[in-house]
Amino acid sequence: MKKILIIGGGAMGSAFSVPCLENNNSVTITEPYSKLFIRNLSSKNKFHSALKINLPKKLKFRKFSSSLLREKFDLIVIALSLSGIDFIGKQFKNLNIKTPILVLTKGLKYEKKNKKIFTISEQLKKNYNVSNISILKGPCLAKELARKNQTSVIVANKNINLAKKIGKMISTKYYIIEFSKDIIGIEVCSAIKNIYSMIIGAGQSLNASSNLFQKSVIEMGYLIKYFKGKEETTLGLAGIGDLYVSAAGGRNSKMGSYLGRGFTFKTAKKKFMPNDTVEGEQLAREIAPYILKKIDKKRIPLMNNLLRTIINNKKLKIKV
Ligand SMILES: NC(=O)c1ccc[n+]([C@@H]2O[C@H](COP(=O)([O-])OP(=O)(O)OC[C@H]3O[C@@H](n4cnc5c(N)ncnc54)[C@H](O)[C@@H]3O)[C@@H](O)[C@H]2O)c1
Repeated sequence: MKKILIIGGGAMGSAFSVPCLENNNSVTITEPYSKLFIRNLSSKNKFHSALKINLPKKLKFRKFSSSLLREKFDLIVIALSLSGIDFIGKQFKNLNIKTPILVLTKGLKYEKKNKKIFTISEQLKKNYNVSNISILKGPCLAKELARKNQTSVIVANKNINLAKKIGKMISTKYYIIEFSKDIIGIEVCSAIKNIYSMIIGAGQSLNASSNLFQKSVIEMGYLIKYFKGKEETTLGLAGIGDLYVSAAGGRNSKMGSYLGRGFTFKTAKKKFMPNDTVEGEQLAREIAPYILKKIDKKRIPLMNNLLRTIINNKKLKIKV
């Protein structure tokens, strides 16, 4: 039995506790930000309002504090959204924690000062001295994992044995883990698929979306190589695997469908999705200053088009 701490009691962090507990680990979850999730997780029946299920009784809830991070765990999992990464980085800074860290969060950060795009693991290492980081990405709807539907994801670390050790801790019959050394390729793929699922969603028929899907995969391959990942990672779980699930029915593709119908982003958001976080939009704003300036738009016309559509709040003009 291993001791696992999950930071982030949102949909993904809470769903992730299900296979961890099934694998006979002692699992503690903590929530640093949302009062709603704190209420959910500390309640007697552990009903999770986003997952719409009761989480296992064995799941322990603890109040978030930096001293909790110093306790002895075999694995610390970060399952916050991108906006929580700086917060948790600051908490880890200078604690000199040697425990393996597993990051579930998807996204990229643009640093104005260095004029560079960083992955989450690079950011945690460089800005906050967090070491021993592995990442877990792939096509995983939290609601499905929480209900033990078969899910395959990928854990990456340059040290593949470490990745496998983590895989052993968390895998079950329904939570199947693959492994990779291509951290950068996997992190870039798992972030930009949110933008490409908006693009695919913009197609107003299956035929049109299929065309956009094929062209998106080519652009993703180009971008992965550009950021020094392995092009073949695009064809793996964190690439087309995750792109499929997001394009088939996520919030990004839903927003894309409104853009494809001729709404501007702001109008579509206000009219149809006022309370939804659209991760692809947040990422588009984050990386646009770099991508639009540094990368040849002829190589990534769809990405270029979508970024301009969002940041200038213009109508989308994609030729299919
Ligand atoms: N790796 C995977 O298999 C996988 C699968 C699905 C989602 N994800 C990723 O996991 C992350 C969380 O997704 P989710 O569906 O649980 O989202 P969610 O909205 O349900 O939960 C977000 C979590 O982040 C916290 N948070 C939000 N803003 C914060 C801030 N400013 N400071 C500190 N904490 C903050 C929330 O309190 C909550 O714990 C996202 O990046 C998502 O893309 C990963």
